Amino acid sequence: YRTCACEKDMTGMKVLITAGPTQEAIDPVRYITNHSSGKMGYNLARACMLRGADVTLVTGKTSLTPPLFVETIPVVTACDMYEAVTERSADMDLIIKAAAVADYRPAIVASEKTKKADGQLSIELERTDDILKYLGDHKKPGQFLCGFSMETQNMIENSRKKLDKKHLDMVIANNLKEAGAGFETDTNIVTILTKDTTIELPIMSKEEVAFHILDHILACKDAKNE
Ligand code: CTP
Ligand code: CA
Repeated sequence: YRTCACEKDMTGMKVLITAGPTQEAIDPVRYITNHSSGKMGYNLARACMLRGADVTLVTGKTSLTPPLFVETIPVVTACDMYEAVTERSADMDLIIKAAAVADYRPAIVASEKTKKADGQLSIELERTDDILKYLGDHKKPGQFLCGFSMETQNMIENSRKKLDKKHLDMVIANNLKEAGAGFETDTNIVTILTKDTTIELPIMSKEEVAFHILDHILACKDAKNE
């Protein structure tokens, strides 16, 4: 990738990417979140833009600068992300869900700061809607759907279940326990899964991982249209 010019092989494609963590309020002061930095999603958005696509990035709160020439939509909660994505998904050719979406949120958000008291505190949590599952159930003809899968055990088996259950075309699996992979690093180690292929990529920068993922998506899209 370092020596040749970037090919504009995504010209005319409409792409939606999600990135970063969601935040779910407990009270006006506290929230539940995860370690997602947004780096993988932002690198994907920028790579799609460089390859000529028309890119929308729906992002949870991160410390990253929004990429140039990308329409960036900031969101906070899983519910916000669900709305921002489903509002825009219908006319997208490609959707990549790199965001780390909360699976649960506090059932009741306290309107005032919770004061400490003696003993333990429990917070009741309720499920959020699965955005990717919705997209898989409402997939438009020709639309390509790529999810991410974060696992600490049985990575391939669990990620294949997500591919089937959410009707995805591709899942990018990463094992949080591998050094150089996962949330806060600039590198990643991923396995690209489709219905009939398993491709393990070596450790590389998240920027480079993004370009490899797009190469594989374009190859799958071409194969599907032949
Ligand atoms: N995802 C989503 N909406 C949710 C939860 C997850 O769109 N409410 C998406 C993520 O963006 C990711 C994929 O689903 O692309 C897989 O997320 P992951 O957390 O790895 O798997 P889950 O299906 O949520 O299952 P679990 O957390 O139990 O492993
Ligand atoms: Ca999850």
